[in-house]
Amino acid sequence: MNVITPPDPARHPFLTGKPKRLFIDGKWVEAASGKTFDTLNPSTGSVLASVAEGDAEDIGRAVEAARRAFDGPWRRFKPFERQNLLLKLADLVERHFEELAALDTLDMGAPISRTRASRLRALGMLRYYAGQATAIHGETIENSLPGDYVSFTLKEPVGVVGAIIPWNGPLTATIWKIGPALATGCTVVLKPAEEAPLTSLRLAELCQEAGVPPGVVNVVTGYGETAGAALAGHPDVDKVAFTGSHLTGQKIIQASAGNLKRVSLELGGKSPDVVFADADLDAAVPGAGMAVFANSGQICSAGTRLFVEQAIYEEFTARVAAYGKTLRVGNSSDPETQVGPLVSPEQLDRVTGYLAIGRQEGARPLSGGERLTDGDLAQGYFVPPTVFADVRDEMRIAQEEIFGPVISAIPFTDVDEVIERANRTSFGLGSGVWTQDVSRAHKLARSLRAGSVWVNCYQAMDPAVPFGGYKMSGYGRESGKQHVEEYLNVKAVWIKTG
Ligand code: NAI
Ligand code: MG
Repeated sequence: MNVITPPDPARHPFLTGKPKRLFIDGKWVEAASGKTFDTLNPSTGSVLASVAEGDAEDIGRAVEAARRAFDGPWRRFKPFERQNLLLKLADLVERHFEELAALDTLDMGAPISRTRASRLRALGMLRYYAGQATAIHGETIENSLPGDYVSFTLKEPVGVVGAIIPWNGPLTATIWKIGPALATGCTVVLKPAEEAPLTSLRLAELCQEAGVPPGVVNVVTGYGETAGAALAGHPDVDKVAFTGSHLTGQKIIQASAGNLKRVSLELGGKSPDVVFADADLDAAVPGAGMAVFANSGQICSAGTRLFVEQAIYEEFTARVAAYGKTLRVGNSSDPETQVGPLVSPEQLDRVTGYLAIGRQEGARPLSGGERLTDGDLAQGYFVPPTVFADVRDEMRIAQEEIFGPVISAIPFTDVDEVIERANRTSFGLGSGVWTQDVSRAHKLARSLRAGSVWVNCYQAMDPAVPFGGYKMSGYGRESGKQHVEEYLNVKAVWIKTG
């Protein structure tokens, strides 16, 4: 595959190629309505591609295809055959990685340095799930019934999975849904986010090339309220795996009630990052900064509530603000860019709205705080790394998910106090601790009510380590053995042998 450096929409093979249709039952088809919608390059505001606008009818066709595939030859694929498919897909993703990274960058605005760096993670996930395909097993369980009975469990694929993903990392989000499905023998209908649907379509092509049978992976692009809602409410979908906002998560649960489908939810957060005065500050400054500035803050587990011990509060917040100013904000295709644009005009409005709210609430901006409109930046949706000091727990910028590069810095004086305040949020996804005191690190690791605790680091992820939320950050785990279990049913089998 030709290497594209830097990503250029006019030369990208997928963008200059065929129309962007729906992938249903192994075929590329128009939406039943014939409608299309545009996806933008957030660095420039220009239209990148026109994409088929699937709706309930297309979701219906895709679910039928997924059901047929689930009941068809796919059901008899041996674990090692599913493993081989995933390994083949991983090889194809590896071969086309540069192109996929460029597509993510152009469609959602993550800097090319970042999307290129997701290579290990993307390939690692596919190969991890490949390994899991041959590690699925039930148990033989001794029972106490009088007479002779053998009892054992079978692990069976849940069935047709509806996967609904957001725009903040389309390549890895897509792999995170189809990986466990292929490993377990489920079939999938994936609905990408309307803001960044292209990488999922390109991955569907690669699934086809890898030999994934028709109907096993289907991709229906379209809007949340139409295509997404139809998938969440479909009576023949067995499970919905959703990643996105908690408000949509609540709608997904309501929509699931009709057939009581299984639901797993990977939602947002307002994650605390706690810096003690004894921390290695040279590491903590960029660590706490990138916990929020990476991907322009568009990460569910971003450490946006920065609790800093009073003794170092002024110095530390000033250093994080200064660090933020050193980051290069710009067009995400530029290899030097460290902070790209927000994904859409809507996200720009949302984040600049919070910048205004923060000032009204009395928070003190130490850096950033305004949209960037110099030169070419005016065409895109750029907000610079922003640090608000003097934030109080009850402020909206300390409670609500902003999903932009905005740190709310809050002082604290005491360990027990900061644990209580860090937990005073309706979310519980990520959390960070910076200290050289081992006892204190352990105490916080046990006390923070969040699905991940990162000590002297932030955002470490691995395909084998479970990731997910407490409280309103959702339930279910992705990555790790738990993730595979989410796509399996347990069946008990009894055989009377006496
Ligand atoms: P969203 O939750 O509305 O969108 C995520 C996915 O859900 C998209 O594919 C969308 O089309 C779909 N969707 C929307 N409404 C649906 C419905 N009624 N039924 C089924 N599917 C539906 O998030 P959105 O609007 O993109 O972003 C709004 C805010 O949500 C962000 O500012 C951020 O705070 C939060 N968010 C959090 C994410 C996370 O990873 N935790 C990811 C995306 C957004
Ligand atoms: Mg786009």
